[in-house]
Amino acid sequence: MKFFIDTANLAEIEEAAALGIIDGVTTNPSLMAKEGIKGEANILQHYRDICKIVDGDVSAEVVATDFEGIVKEGEELAALADNIVVKVPMIKDGVKALSHFSKNGIATNCTLVFSAGQALLAAKAGATYVSPFIGRIDDVTWDGMDLINDIVEIYANYGFETQILAASIRNPLHITKCALLGADVVTCPLKAILGLLKHPLTDIGLAKFLADAKKSRP
Ligand code: G3P
Repeated sequence: MKFFIDTANLAEIEEAAALGIIDGVTTNPSLMAKEGIKGEANILQHYRDICKIVDGDVSAEVVATDFEGIVKEGEELAALADNIVVKVPMIKDGVKALSHFSKNGIATNCTLVFSAGQALLAAKAGATYVSPFIGRIDDVTWDGMDLINDIVEIYANYGFETQILAASIRNPLHITKCALLGADVVTCPLKAILGLLKHPLTDIGLAKFLADAKKSRP
């Protein structure tokens, strides 16, 4: 399973990369806006800065919603660095653009996916990744894991190569459940990844070991 970090914050990406377990980064227009980046030139430079921190794939999202605009923007993003992945929303012109990018060797991440049908379209269009938003599904009292399960089953039925990139991860349990179901990637806030570290029995056990170690080191 690949771990991507879902942020545009350079310090957080650097902290995560230092753990040695991060395989990539995902961003979106909201995460970019959160960093206070303004102007096209500064946005593009910020993507370049992210791509310098990690070797793995870095998703940068288009904001155009028409085919021509998505293609133009996507080609510009792809030219920024070898590890840029063009993030495209699950809309009709987005599917058309995903097919175009797939035929032209540009890696893509189909985002804002909330149904198995949408995930099927993304795979048919040749998306590199599909991003089902499990947390936002949970937020409206459905179970995001059911969607992951359906996508895993459908993709296995037909041998689709599109990677399932579970997104909108809210907590460590989402991560382990996605791993049990066979998602290829989870993209998470650093807090969710660090949450995997925590178990009270580990803390209790280490405290005992350290206390006993002192007995051997008077
Ligand atoms: O970046 C895509 C996805 O991870 C967004 O997550 O927390 O805004 O639902 P969230």
